[in-house]
Amino acid sequence: MNTPVRIDPTSREFRRDSIAIYRHLLRTQPVTALDDGRYLLCGYHDVKRALTDLESFRRPTEASVARRRPGSMSEAFARNNMIGLNPPDNTRFRRAMARAFAPRRVEQLAPDMRKSCDALIDRMIESRECDFIHDFALPLPVAIICRMLDIPLADQHLFEHWSAALLAGLELSADPGEAERAETATANLYDYLDGIAAERRRHPGEDLISTLIEAANEEKISAQEVIWGAITLLVAGHETTTHLLGNGMLALIRDPGQMRLLRERPDLTVNAVEEFLRYDPSVYVLFRETSRDVTFGATAVPRGTFLILSLAAANRDPSVFADPDRLDITRENARQHLAFGAGFHLCLGQAVARLEGRIAFEMLMRRITTIELAREPTPRDGLMFKGNHEMPVRVL
Ligand code: HEM
Repeated sequence: MNTPVRIDPTSREFRRDSIAIYRHLLRTQPVTALDDGRYLLCGYHDVKRALTDLESFRRPTEASVARRRPGSMSEAFARNNMIGLNPPDNTRFRRAMARAFAPRRVEQLAPDMRKSCDALIDRMIESRECDFIHDFALPLPVAIICRMLDIPLADQHLFEHWSAALLAGLELSADPGEAERAETATANLYDYLDGIAAERRRHPGEDLISTLIEAANEEKISAQEVIWGAITLLVAGHETTTHLLGNGMLALIRDPGQMRLLRERPDLTVNAVEEFLRYDPSVYVLFRETSRDVTFGATAVPRGTFLILSLAAANRDPSVFADPDRLDITRENARQHLAFGAGFHLCLGQAVARLEGRIAFEMLMRRITTIELAREPTPRDGLMFKGNHEMPVRVL
């Protein structure tokens, strides 16, 4: 019997100190019944099972639709963004986008990534004191997602703001103000990308929006789904990568031995990126619901139960990762992390994020001899998305 406990994962206390709480739960109660009927799963194998067993678990589309105001743009987003959908709707989107994420297409992004990194690092070195998030970790992924969607970089100040507001509204802990800002942001993003898509219909290219339009022309997705697909890509494709870069750099700054090792051994960069994703992932939790009665060990969980799956906890499960609270860029099984999810819904953009992470850390370590915190970072205290709003650094 798993007695419900008084843990509120949406509370500020939980969100602020979640790693310590996950560490405790992994030891004492990896399957936690919350007193509102939801369950929180922390163990690696349970989380992976909930992500991969499509017969017993599904994304809670209706629950997330029910949290939105009927008729609102946020409700429409909940119904139409592929990250919230189950097959067969999700499958239509995945098929429509798959071509754009083929290894050859991703590799073609490398020269642009290097060029952007070089320019951003030049500016960081010149200014000596800067904000690692605003001056590097955010503009790099923004430049790449703009390139993938072929939208003007000059508009970045618009969609950066809208995208951040939309993400904040997806949190279970979103307050009415955040929900309202998400509503406005979703409407603005829709109008903006609708305009871009109209232009792209007249002048198709090689970009992701043209790929979605082509799928719509072949009647694989609808005209509206072109826009929802583009919104999903814009939102999913940059802030997550920002936090990979930001959380990874912060982990290195806090562990000078590992920073030194990475400088001396650039061949470790690929594995270091995996270890950053394991140690402090950008997405801390995902949501699922049971589509039939299931058991986790001795705990029976009825059909229709809302599950909070902690990727951050699973990534620190000591039965899979030895000495899990230690950053170890030589860790042999770092790549087993669940930072990109697992199974059918595994992140479509993972190859882009990995390439961007590798190029960024290779160039940062090569070109910047010393980087240290100028002040403590300002954390983003979401339940789902983790990173820092600001990270002032001194660069030498
Ligand atoms: C470090 C960076 C990234 C992280 C940590 C990350 C994480 C994730 C996770 C955890 C999921 C699975 C959600 C679930 O199972 O419910 C996901 C899905 C997805 N990601 Fe990423 N992501 C990253 C970068 C990107 C990029 C760069 C793109 C696109 C350019 C992207 C596009 C997507 C898409 C389209 C899905 C939906 C897959 C589906 O629903 O079947 N992601 N991502």
